Amino acid sequence: MPGGHLEPPDQSGPGASAGSEHSGERLQKVLARVGIGSRRACEELIADGLVTVNGSVAELGCRVDPERDQVEVEGVAVGIRPGLVHYLLNKPVGVVTTASDPQGRPTVVQLVPPEPRVFPVGRLDRETEGLLLLTNDGDLTHRVTHPSHGVEKEYLAEVVGSPSRAALRSLREGIQLDDGLTAPARVALVDRSLIRITIHEGRNRQVRRMMDAIGHPVTRLIRTRIGPITDRRLAPGEWRSLTPDELRSLETVVALGPDALR
Ligand code: URA
Repeated sequence: MPGGHLEPPDQSGPGASAGSEHSGERLQKVLARVGIGSRRACEELIADGLVTVNGSVAELGCRVDPERDQVEVEGVAVGIRPGLVHYLLNKPVGVVTTASDPQGRPTVVQLVPPEPRVFPVGRLDRETEGLLLLTNDGDLTHRVTHPSHGVEKEYLAEVVGSPSRAALRSLREGIQLDDGLTAPARVALVDRSLIRITIHEGRNRQVRRMMDAIGHPVTRLIRTRIGPITDRRLAPGEWRSLTPDELRSLETVVALGPDALR
């Protein structure tokens, strides 16, 4: 059993090159705390050379500073900073996606715990419902919202009338909007006026503008998935923390790009 007989002495050995400061916390303990697996499973990942600290392969027994060190497991960044929170909110209609609204309208941050302070990851229009992430993890926010990572967002759009096959095809192939051609989208007609659309760009009011462009304005818009994150049971206005598995799969998608989900 790799690692089983290698229970290290309390101080890092001379070979513990990555993150080996005596003052830090044991890497396997930190990994277990953030949900990578049991302490023993984490020891095995380290012993198998699958964990890096600041870009160097970690050795069993090394210690890390959770505030400073960058840890990756199998090439995927793992958030180990204490105090990071990641919430999934089902945003109701009429709530604005901002940390504070000068006009005093209800905001998404008022629907989640006030401490620690979190910020929305991307935005939904005031009239759009559905899944929204909020976090104090600025690094993850940056990676999820950055266009180069192309995290998929899936929406259910109720529209006026019933789009023709040609209209659906044009949504799939790309629509010329005033800020340029949209990237190919995945589109399915779920019911005569109900479209499921998956996009990986984050342009302002993009779905509404795409539907306007095909002559079928949106009457209701719900975001049903962000990358690998979905939840049909979360009621409007409710929130929950992401599970360690969800957080890991989100980290995987932003590390590998949108193809990781296909
Ligand atoms: N597209 C829109 O038009 N609105 C949203 O809130 C999200 C995507």
